[in-house]
Amino acid sequence: MCGIVGVIGNPQAVDVVTTGLSRLEYRGYDSAGLAVLGPAGAIHTCKAVGKLAALMAKIPGFNATLPTPPTTAIGHTRWATHGAPTEANAHPHVGTCGAHTIAVVHNGIIENYNEYRTTLAKQGATFASETDTEIIPNALAHRMQGVGVSLVQAVQQLTPTFRGHFAFVAMAQGKPDELVGTRRGAPLCVGLAEGASYLVSDPLALAGICSRFVYLEDDDVVHLTPNRLTITDKNGLPTTRPVTTLDLSTEASGKQGFKHFMLKEIHEQPAVCARILQEYTDAQTLLPCLPLLGLNLATVTTINIVACGTANYAGQVGKYAIESLSRIPTNTDIASEFRYRTPPLRPGDLFIAVSQSGETADTLAALEHAKANGQQILVLTNTPTSTMARMADAVINLQAGREIAVASTKAFTAMVLNLILLGLQLGHARGHLSGAQVHGHTTHLRTLPGLIESMLSHTGVLQKVASGLTGSHSALFLGRGMLAPLAYEGALKMKEISYIHAEGYASGEMKHGPIALVEPGLPVINLATSTDGLFEKTLSNLQEVAARRGHIILVTDDAGATQLPLSGKQGLTLVTVPSSPPLLAPIIFAVPLQLLAYLTATEKGTDVDQPRNLAKSVTVE
Ligand code: AGP
Repeated sequence: MCGIVGVIGNPQAVDVVTTGLSRLEYRGYDSAGLAVLGPAGAIHTCKAVGKLAALMAKIPGFNATLPTPPTTAIGHTRWATHGAPTEANAHPHVGTCGAHTIAVVHNGIIENYNEYRTTLAKQGATFASETDTEIIPNALAHRMQGVGVSLVQAVQQLTPTFRGHFAFVAMAQGKPDELVGTRRGAPLCVGLAEGASYLVSDPLALAGICSRFVYLEDDDVVHLTPNRLTITDKNGLPTTRPVTTLDLSTEASGKQGFKHFMLKEIHEQPAVCARILQEYTDAQTLLPCLPLLGLNLATVTTINIVACGTANYAGQVGKYAIESLSRIPTNTDIASEFRYRTPPLRPGDLFIAVSQSGETADTLAALEHAKANGQQILVLTNTPTSTMARMADAVINLQAGREIAVASTKAFTAMVLNLILLGLQLGHARGHLSGAQVHGHTTHLRTLPGLIESMLSHTGVLQKVASGLTGSHSALFLGRGMLAPLAYEGALKMKEISYIHAEGYASGEMKHGPIALVEPGLPVINLATSTDGLFEKTLSNLQEVAARRGHIILVTDDAGATQLPLSGKQGLTLVTVPSSPPLLAPIIFAVPLQLLAYLTATEKGTDVDQPRNLAKSVTVE
């Protein structure tokens, strides 16, 4: 959460910062701000509450106050943690002590900020915000004034005393030719160009500006001048980090004619599935060939899949797939719970982190815990340069292409399809599935792009259901087997972007409590495939809702629709999807759920791509 951009040595520093922030808005959009070092070395700041557009409106006026275009600037887009989204809490934050004034942009949380705040206040510091961030520039300025050290030395000395996961960039009044940055847990990398250098949360911020990047390790401190990069490691010793060249020009940009990124990304799913199947199945044999060489599968007795939010629901589908296809016992966990319940972990077992961004703090903490306990680490991510990917023994690139909308759609589909392929590959490697059986499954999977395509062009019924939902305060989503996690995901999508309270339940669990919620007219979205052997049971659960006059919206396949008893059809809204083998169902059923949430949200007029209170990348625990 929060996006950072730092620029040094570029006369277009303000433009680079604002362009970079526009690409990092996915990390938070509660407020934005920037600070520049003017020609006399004075710090000038400009901040605005709300999305970047509010800051952009202020930039011409701000530029007019500067005698010459600055070459050094830092900028920030905020997802609020400590303190409401106000201008006072917007970054950059500035702290002064004696002759030293420091400006800082920060991502993450300084957990011991309160102790610092108390101590600094006793030393005469005053605070203008409610943020944890503000202690950083104040502590740095006090250190510089107190012991006569430089900015970089102050950062080196104080960073080890800050608790938590964070990244920050600092600049000092009167020092127009230096920026200092550090990170722990949260991302920060250096961009290198001729005569200029950059510090950013994500290289995407610098697409078209530079292509050479240096990823910092935890507790590295980087000192940048326009032409020089110096890094010290967590022990304060000089070090170097490899330079990675990235081709960011191929990143698709813009909505390409769609009203929202989310809709564009829903429509990209046929292409995403085709790409995954082409990349990860052998063209001749059709056997999966995921890049697992870094793993020793012979030692694996148990698999732990750990993730958050949508990625966790994809992981739950993965559990069904892996257990049924390979017979390897598989657990799933929410990352924020896994880490702190200290589960017994057997060295040599497999830990799978699933993360679109590869930066989610909870998942990262769980991964570090598993690694420290001798687990082999497999990461499924859409960002192969991410922190998680760099810590893994093996990485499966989700191949979804950059996902911009906060509500995840194509990344979910990609996670599920890759986990199904993983189940097939493990099942074959373990001798549980024959080559012919795997071939049969992958042949079916190859029909996915066409099946999804056909659903995307028939949204009439969903539009009617969505119109009905806009007046509802609440909705239930129900499913069994592999479709239970789809019910959870459908409910999550609905609440994220339409703000309608929605709960997902395993159908069989309804009678154990949630059925008390059913009252006349309550929308209950039931997911049922006719091919998993559970159809009749699901229909019984549906009757239980009908008996209490809930409004049943049944999402089922064409074959299921024909099996409905005539009486069961009364008072029910039917949404049909193409019939498919059971392994394909979680992907097929995802599409109408995504569209339903999207259509409901657009009808309600909410901010679909950037819903309130959320951010795409959650880098705080
Ligand atoms: C998805 O719609 C959500 N915005 C959210 O649940 C997301 O899936 C979660 O934060 C995990 O993110 P990750 O995949 O980048 O780790």
